[in-house]
Amino acid sequence: MSETKTLGNGKTTNVRLQAWVSEMAELCQPANVWWTDGSDAENQQLCDVLVKAGTFTKLDPKKRPGSYLARSHPSDVARVEDRTFICSRTREEAGAANNWADPAEMKAKMMERFQGCMKGRTMYVIPFAMGPLDSPICKIGIEITDSAYVVTNMRIMTNMGQAVLDKLGADGKYIPCMHSVGAPLKPGQKDVPWPCEPEPRNKYIVHFPEEPSIWSYGSGYGGNALLGKKCLALRIASTVARREGWMAEHMLILCLTSPAGKKHYVAAAFPSACGKTNLAMMQPSLPGWKVTTLGDDIAWIRVGEDGRLYAMNPETGFFGVAPGTSAQSNPNALAACSKNTIFTNVVLTPDNDIWWEDMGVPAPARGIDWQGNEWTPDSGKKGAHPNSRFTAPASQCPVLDPDWQNPAGVPLSAIIFGGRRPGTIPLANEAFDWEHGVFMGSACGSETTAAALGSAGVLRRDPFAMLPFCGYNMSDYFGHWLSMASRTDRNKLPKVFFVNWFRKDDTGKWLWPGFGDNSRVLKWICERVDGTGKADKTPIGNVPTKDALDLTGLDIPAEDLEQLLAVDKEGWKKEVAGIEEYYQKLGGVPAPLKAQLDGLKQRLA
Ligand code: OXD
Ligand code: MN
Repeated sequence: MSETKTLGNGKTTNVRLQAWVSEMAELCQPANVWWTDGSDAENQQLCDVLVKAGTFTKLDPKKRPGSYLARSHPSDVARVEDRTFICSRTREEAGAANNWADPAEMKAKMMERFQGCMKGRTMYVIPFAMGPLDSPICKIGIEITDSAYVVTNMRIMTNMGQAVLDKLGADGKYIPCMHSVGAPLKPGQKDVPWPCEPEPRNKYIVHFPEEPSIWSYGSGYGGNALLGKKCLALRIASTVARREGWMAEHMLILCLTSPAGKKHYVAAAFPSACGKTNLAMMQPSLPGWKVTTLGDDIAWIRVGEDGRLYAMNPETGFFGVAPGTSAQSNPNALAACSKNTIFTNVVLTPDNDIWWEDMGVPAPARGIDWQGNEWTPDSGKKGAHPNSRFTAPASQCPVLDPDWQNPAGVPLSAIIFGGRRPGTIPLANEAFDWEHGVFMGSACGSETTAAALGSAGVLRRDPFAMLPFCGYNMSDYFGHWLSMASRTDRNKLPKVFFVNWFRKDDTGKWLWPGFGDNSRVLKWICERVDGTGKADKTPIGNVPTKDALDLTGLDIPAEDLEQLLAVDKEGWKKEVAGIEEYYQKLGGVPAPLKAQLDGLKQRLA
């Protein structure tokens, strides 16, 4: 065993935690163990370490106070779904939609990988809480990592530091989260700015839901490495939530306030690349209406004392996709990352600021691209990686809802599902009841764009937008959603809607302007909740009547509106066949969903 020094000011009396950290230090053999306390001083110290290592470039403090740019290794730019494993006892428990691996075999593999993996590095111990510390469903995790970049990001994304250790006390429980970039240093070996294991098949993002614990090896990027986010708050939390009777969902949370001051809280699930962050912080085009945001990615939802469903965002920051974020698409996200923000894989401008494609401001004449090379806008290459990110504190969002840290969460009026669907699916559709709503969630999906995934027009089913994030069998997960109706008075459940901002006509023209104009649909949804909104009962659900949407100030041709709200029976028959095929791929679904599918088939006949 190597001699390790203890650094940092984090203090704990938790004997189990102390023993685990010692055991992991013995396994990973770091040079030092640093107990983080989450303080400003510590953060500055770590940022300075990262600047010295070449990982961080300090941005102009006048333009971007407290902000840094990082560039990842070119092999380490996104979540690695095919290297993500759910190690439940049986393959059946993980289900057809997950990669399963035998827990004992995988644990043995992890012990091998982590053996000596932090040599020459500092092992940081990060105490973090998902959710306000006094929330009834707050969960504490301890991430052990050899990446200071991870520490600085976790500090933005979670409640992190000494307060968590204090809450844990002498015998509190935590979820162990092991992380290593998988790049031990030999004595005297020079480090690189972004250490990682470059070989994709040597990366592992592993979940042991029974323990529960998380082991992540080889990547330093985003959801692979910030283990509070997708690993804990979705995959592990979904399994815990199922046991404990609540829900961990891939959803934004927003509050829509009417000109009269009436508030409705709404949670919404969309697959990636559907503008979740934009919707969460939207500036309504409808005069007098206001959107405030509580979260842009994850919602933990539980039955409150009054029987309603309450949603809480377990995160404290936004890990947003940079390209496409502009004053038009999301001015509030831009404001949120005006200071104290970490940018990863965007362009560095000559005046030490950042830029990305579709930022809505002219590109600099030249800059340094995400790979660290000289770049000009006419080079024909993208300056920022398409999955480049900003990590920004939620507290800096100008439209943050005052209740975003309310430990009880906020009562949901509506749940919205959506996807990128150029055809068939109407602009808005209300479920007849909870079971129909669960059916809608199970049928979520998005059509790929040519730019993103090669072949355009391929529909990727992504039930509840949870395909990469559900920690157990998708069919059991559908069953858990259905069971919420028996956990409370079903009249108190939120109404469920399906929206589609991405309808196109035959020539490929968008039929709906989207962005701030989506507030018109949100308004209708709230009116439906209040019992005033107009809708036609159709075979697929309650669809807005032609005069139901407030279109004040919007110049939209009548025939476009007609298409947006039409029920295309032939298209829907194909949709039903697609859903049926997908259900079979999942290995079957609970009987109530099969009944929903059959009911829809009959109504369309
Ligand atoms: C994300 C995602 O990064 O869903 O939030 O991929
Ligand atoms: Mn997400």
